[in-house]
Amino acid sequence: MTDPLSGFRLDGEVAVVTGGASGLGRVVADAFAAVGARVVNFDLAASGDDAYAVDVADEAGVKAAFEKVMARHGRVDVLFNNAGIAIRKPTAELSLAEWNTVVAVNMTGVFLCAREAARHMLASGRGGRIVNTASIMGFSGGGLYPNISYQATKGAVVNMTRALAIEWARQGIRVNAIAPTWIRTPLTRGITESPELVRRIEQMTPMGRIGEPDDIVGAVLFLASRASALVTGHILAIDGGFLAQ
Ligand SMILES: NC(=O)c1ccc[n+]([C@@H]2O[C@H](COP(=O)([O-])OP(=O)(O)OC[C@H]3O[C@@H](n4cnc5c(N)ncnc54)[C@H](O)[C@@H]3O)[C@@H](O)[C@H]2O)c1
Repeated sequence: MTDPLSGFRLDGEVAVVTGGASGLGRVVADAFAAVGARVVNFDLAASGDDAYAVDVADEAGVKAAFEKVMARHGRVDVLFNNAGIAIRKPTAELSLAEWNTVVAVNMTGVFLCAREAARHMLASGRGGRIVNTASIMGFSGGGLYPNISYQATKGAVVNMTRALAIEWARQGIRVNAIAPTWIRTPLTRGITESPELVRRIEQMTPMGRIGEPDDIVGAVLFLASRASALVTGHILAIDGGFLAQ
């Protein structure tokens, strides 16, 4: 009998992780490497053999980075489409420039990276897997503070995931997303360092706790690997029950 865990392995495959220098991207990059993938990190200030300085909102930069991956590794099998930012402000105080900045990274960046990855996956005939990082705030208008550009763009990631999953389903590219709750990373430092805000998150969360980066690893490995071979267009909440309420 085949080892049931073998479907989670990525031996011989190439995985691109955006926002791979920090937080969720970093733990997932390590996990992909641990299950056999060659991992390429895209991040703003990355440098090194397999860490490229890429702004995901820059069309030419994203295209060039994927071409570099192809030249170096010859294939792209997995994209963890994860880079994201937040500007948390009351809507009446949010400037158009701030709105545009969040849209550029969280929405346009997800589109550009998915498109470039898919161009190579389609050309190879092998298909691939894309895992987007949405958020519980892609489903909820609530939370702790006003965050309109984040909630709008994460909602867009949810439906982009479904639409791309359908568009590419027959060509073997599966597209899924994770929707994490508050996880302790640099992105949420201003929140997780406040005992009052942490207490409020614990109160709002059925399981009564905030997330740690390792909490997302199993879900991303599942969606990025053959273990989820018949799953596409799915948004997997990693939220201690937040969205079940
Ligand atoms: N931490 C949480 O609570 C939480 C919850 C739900 C969703 N998310 C989402 O998870 C993803 C990762 O967040 P994190 O918590 O690991 O944050 P993080 O700030 O620790 O890491 C994000 C990484 O993305 C990079 N990045 C930002 N803008 C970029 C750009 N234009 N081009 C390339 N790289 C860029 C940053 O340099 C950083 O290394 C984001 O999409 C975020 O919205 C986070």
